[in-house]
Amino acid sequence: MLEANRLAVQKKLESAGLSDYPFRDVKCLLIRALARMPPSLAVHASLQALLNGRRPTWTVANDQRLEHMERVARLLDAWAVGLGLSEREVLRWRAAGLAHDLLRDADQDELRSHLPPTLASFPGPILHGPAAAERLRIEGLEDGELLTAVAYHTVGDARFGRLGRALYAADFLEPGRTFLSEWREERRARMPADFDRVVREVAATRIRNLIERQSRVLPQTLAFWNSMAREAA
Ligand SMILES: [Fe+2]
Ligand SMILES: [Fe+2]
Repeated sequence: MLEANRLAVQKKLESAGLSDYPFRDVKCLLIRALARMPPSLAVHASLQALLNGRRPTWTVANDQRLEHMERVARLLDAWAVGLGLSEREVLRWRAAGLAHDLLRDADQDELRSHLPPTLASFPGPILHGPAAAERLRIEGLEDGELLTAVAYHTVGDARFGRLGRALYAADFLEPGRTFLSEWREERRARMPADFDRVVREVAATRIRNLIERQSRVLPQTLAFWNSMAREAA
């Protein structure tokens, strides 16, 4: 077993609270088995903990929020399976849903104080995305696509890969939301087969809602929209 691999597994056991597991032989077998798993099958320990129902100590989300995250995760899971993605990708997508609103109910000024100046200038209600991504990054998660997806799930981002777009759409389409229920049900039924078109329709509706409420549309949201409009042209 490679020493680096053994240390990575040891770290994983520690983060799972198994480092003090009393039966040394069993623990050795477990470490060996985990180390033999191809890296492509493993997700980061922070994501694995979420998938196992353990949320980070820094989570600030009420019960309704946790249920919302679970519904978003279920949608993402189903879409990833529908797209024929690998088992690991399905886990990654599900974990993104479980992670995206971990700080949704935190004090906005508190969140702002921990973010770099460029992000701290964001409107209060969208700070929770960048803040959660930053916490996950500090925990050692280096999955840029997932971190971008979590950070900008409210505003959209032109850099979004498929996961970012899926999370942006799932957050709006999940069945627990009460407004536009028929409209959303129809879009859910078209996912993931009509993925690009549904994401564009979600973005158009969300941007239209902002304009109708006389709210600001961030340049980042317009860049996201333009990147999809260019692809569709
Ligand atoms: Fe959110
Ligand atoms: Fe959400």
